[in-house]
Amino acid sequence: MIKGCIFDLDGVVVDTAKYHYLAWKRLANELGFEFTEKDNERLKGVSRMKSLEILLEIGNLSFDEETKLKLAEKKNNWYVQYISKMDESEILPGVKEFLSQLKENGYKIALGSVSKNAMIILENTNLKQYFDAIIDGNKVTKAKPDPEVFLKGAEELNLKPEECIVFEDAIAGIEAARRANMKVVGVGSKEILKDADMVIEGFKNVSVDIIKAL
Ligand code: BG6
Ligand code: MG
Repeated sequence: MIKGCIFDLDGVVVDTAKYHYLAWKRLANELGFEFTEKDNERLKGVSRMKSLEILLEIGNLSFDEETKLKLAEKKNNWYVQYISKMDESEILPGVKEFLSQLKENGYKIALGSVSKNAMIILENTNLKQYFDAIIDGNKVTKAKPDPEVFLKGAEELNLKPEECIVFEDAIAGIEAARRANMKVVGVGSKEILKDADMVIEGFKNVSVDIIKAL
């Protein structure tokens, strides 16, 4: 029986995927190559340093560790500038209503994100109050597709993995949920999120009944 829901943050609860993309694109352009939205799919759900590795592979570039840390920091500084201006208006449609419904129906709610910036975003958008547990990039050592972030979420909710479902917009996140032995709802495009148990476009008009439909 499902007793808890674990939400990815970027691209599921808030539209920060576009800010990650803008910041990575800015870095790629500064390094002299193009970075497309299609390339960006590979970075979703992936840690900051691993994302940089993929970006550099696309640009056919290699740097020493020290330079890579500087490049990642540069990208993060731009990203933090973008998200510092965020407010409640950037919560994706239907998300707040869905979270409220889950609470009313007794489901526990966790955040399962590998972002180290998750807390700033939850605070700026006033969403922290909805979560019984918050697992972010400061609490995990392995990024998705490793299941660590979701297993920790279940543990902090005092639930078994099979009692949780995951909401994810990233291919790596869907694989992480599978490896955690959890059902997963993809949020986004059916073509991209083929391995999810179900795919929704977003939370607009979505009710808790979808949990029973899984
Ligand atoms: C994930 C995003 O939620 O967090 C990735 O989907 C991002 O794109 C990762 O790289 C790490 O985020 P941050 O904020 O710690 O750089
Ligand atoms: Mg995401």
